[in-house]
Amino acid sequence: MNLVTRREGRLYFEDVALDTIAHAHGTPTYVYSRAALASTYREYDRAFAGHEHLICYAVKANSSLAILNLFARLGAGFDIVSGGELARVLAAGGDPNKVVFSGVGKTAEEMRAALTAGIHCFNVESESELHRLNRVAGELGKTAPISLRVNPNVDAKTHPYISTGLKENKFGIAHDEALRVYRLAAALPNLRVVGIDCHIGSQLTEVAPFAEALDKVLQLVDALAAEGIPLRHLDLGGGVGIRYRDETPPAVDAYARTLLGKLKGRPQKLILEPGRSLVGNAGLLLTRVEYLKHGEAKDFAIVDAAMNDLMRPALYDAWHDIVPVTVRQGEARRYEIVGPVCESGDFLGHDRELVLAEGDLLAILSAGAYGMSMSSNYNTRARAAEVMVDGDRAHLIRRREDIAALFANEVLLSR
Ligand code: LLP
Repeated sequence: MNLVTRREGRLYFEDVALDTIAHAHGTPTYVYSRAALASTYREYDRAFAGHEHLICYAVKANSSLAILNLFARLGAGFDIVSGGELARVLAAGGDPNKVVFSGVGKTAEEMRAALTAGIHCFNVESESELHRLNRVAGELGKTAPISLRVNPNVDAKTHPYISTGLKENKFGIAHDEALRVYRLAAALPNLRVVGIDCHIGSQLTEVAPFAEALDKVLQLVDALAAEGIPLRHLDLGGGVGIRYRDETPPAVDAYARTLLGKLKGRPQKLILEPGRSLVGNAGLLLTRVEYLKHGEAKDFAIVDAAMNDLMRPALYDAWHDIVPVTVRQGEARRYEIVGPVCESGDFLGHDRELVLAEGDLLAILSAGAYGMSMSSNYNTRARAAEVMVDGDRAHLIRRREDIAALFANEVLLSR
């Protein structure tokens, strides 16, 4: 699918000219493609068709209701990490019985909400969490389905901030401890052991670490079966990385072939929790150049999107392609693309060769994952609008936040 095309100088997303979206809804605005979202989901679903599976979209990557609703309609499950994400999934029409709950810090209240909704599985990350969940389930007269998230101590070879499967990370239960903790879980009266879970990191560009982690998980599955603790599912965590610049992440097909090869003949259902690869390249951030500033050392394009809208460049030094919405003739300069926030770390791209004039629109690509969902109100900036294109139509799926809402919950001292 040619998602982003240029026709007579104008940039299109599906069959909608991006300048028309800026005109109708202002900037900064996130824009998503319905066709791209559906096609990446179906790609996963097809690739794993040979084995019973459940694709649980990782809500944290982009939690906007219209996106969750779209995945729910396609049959997806959801990987959540908070009570807030659970509420979003339910509001978007997601099936609670297809929800897995990950995260190291689940509160008792979040556990109650998830037990009441009747989720598929809790991915438990510590012994203390097991005891808390056992107590909360008992109070509600329920049995909590659980997996233990094991930390396989595998190097995912990704950015240190998003690598999670090494023993020095805060996530999961050490591989060597897992059997003992499983025995404990099996003995607790209000828990039912149903699976095993592992997530080694995000933006992986090789299959080998996934394969290594799966081998370690399968060793445990066999050891547990030998002890009379059979499992119904294996959850292998997040999906493959995506191309932002020149990365060569594995195709979903190749990733599926590797995993399925190892799962042949095994009865367990496979659960996956892809986030980035389902939404990342299906979204962009539309922004307008407010000012051009030709400094002594650098040329700056000051745009109306900032680190509060898209945090990835500031936080991980991440690269996003930045392309002009309308082609302009003239002399190209190397621009620092920066936002209005009062920090030197507020950049969206360094050293981009562009021909620009004030008022031009830019599209910041590959911004569908961890863009809107990580946005903040820093500098008391209202969060961006969101639009979903579908063929030649554009639907507003989130109005731009209004300023009054930003301090609506605040209270002045009375004296
Ligand atoms: N499952 C668990 C338990 C996770 O922690 C994550 C991501 C996923 C699934 C989804 O992984 P994915 O398919 O998206 O790779 N903000 C960072 C990424 C943080 C990822 C955190 N966990 C970024 O912008 O690169």
